[in-house]
Amino acid sequence: MAKTKAAITAVGAYLPEYVLTNQILETMVDTTDEWITTRTGIKERRILKEDGKGTSFMAIKAAEDLMAKRGLDPKDIDMIIMATATPDMPVAATGAYVASEIGATNAFSYDLQAACSSFLYGMSTAASYVESGRYKKVLLIGADKMSSIIDYTDRTTCIIFGDGAGAVLFEADEEGLGLQDELLRSDGVGRQFLKIDAGGSMLPASEETVKNKQHFVFQDGKSVFKFAVSNMADVSAKIMERNKLTHEDVQWLVPHQANKRIIDATARRMGLEESKVMMNIHRYGNTTSATLPLLLHDYEKQLKKGDNIVFAAFGGGFTWGSIYLKWAYNS
Ligand code: UT7
Repeated sequence: MAKTKAAITAVGAYLPEYVLTNQILETMVDTTDEWITTRTGIKERRILKEDGKGTSFMAIKAAEDLMAKRGLDPKDIDMIIMATATPDMPVAATGAYVASEIGATNAFSYDLQAACSSFLYGMSTAASYVESGRYKKVLLIGADKMSSIIDYTDRTTCIIFGDGAGAVLFEADEEGLGLQDELLRSDGVGRQFLKIDAGGSMLPASEETVKNKQHFVFQDGKSVFKFAVSNMADVSAKIMERNKLTHEDVQWLVPHQANKRIIDATARRMGLEESKVMMNIHRYGNTTSATLPLLLHDYEKQLKKGDNIVFAAFGGGFTWGSIYLKWAYNS
């Protein structure tokens, strides 16, 4: 008998209404629409403006969208994995709050943090629980309020990030569809290039850390770019190779949306034409844990049962990897 696989069976999403365009950023920092567009591919991003609303607000909306589309009773959810780099609070899992707010009273939940690879790693975790037979319905949410950790006077980071949330449901599949293979990696040497210095156990918050702006994201863009290009392309090419997939066999690449140039380089290494590459970076920027589910949400209607999809991500830590999944339904 074929081994039980874990398939994505529903998708949901939420994006805040406020649109921060390149033109508005031109009035905030020394930058231009032309620079941002050619260097990153980003034209606009969404920002959660309302005071007092954190990542959970968007995560709840994305989960509710999924449940409404699928007609899913929250009481049937066994487990919720909350992939995020911007939890509501440092202590008290955001996922636990989300589970209670959506009425998932039979579920347990925790947060999973691996910067921009949070959702990709979460796919592996969610799928493993389902494949093992331990849980039947696992909701994986990727959500980040990046605007809460960005310095809007720093032109090297504020042009990149945006806020958003996406959710997918993992369930067992007996037809051989769902997650087929994964190649996940990390390398702690990278933490010097992309980090938030203060607010953790090594450098707790103080007047000094606030004054020095150490609670905002710091990124050495050039170094991260270099590692991202080679590592994301490497794992994606490797996962194709070891599953004997040619560029013709792959219907879609679902790449983390950090920079269009990184995505193009990955697609080139895989031999994929542009029409097979999911892209929405121009509309949302880099939403960290939400990029992959937001792509699935935007392209859901084009996906067909049996499509071979390669997911790829690279993020702070460093963390990166690639997942090969067969799509399980027609919309
Ligand atoms: O998602 C997690 C992983 N993150 C990533 O994958 C991000 C990887 N890095 C990148 O995407 C790119 O490195 C950036 C988009 C962040 C920067 O692009 P770049 O082509 O690497 O630019 P750079 O940092 O080498 O800067 C080139 C020049 C510099 O000026 P000088 O020193 O050459 O005079 C910067 O000061 O561009 C300048 N610059 C800007 N100019 C206008 C930097 N930011 C801006 C800006 N507007 N917003």
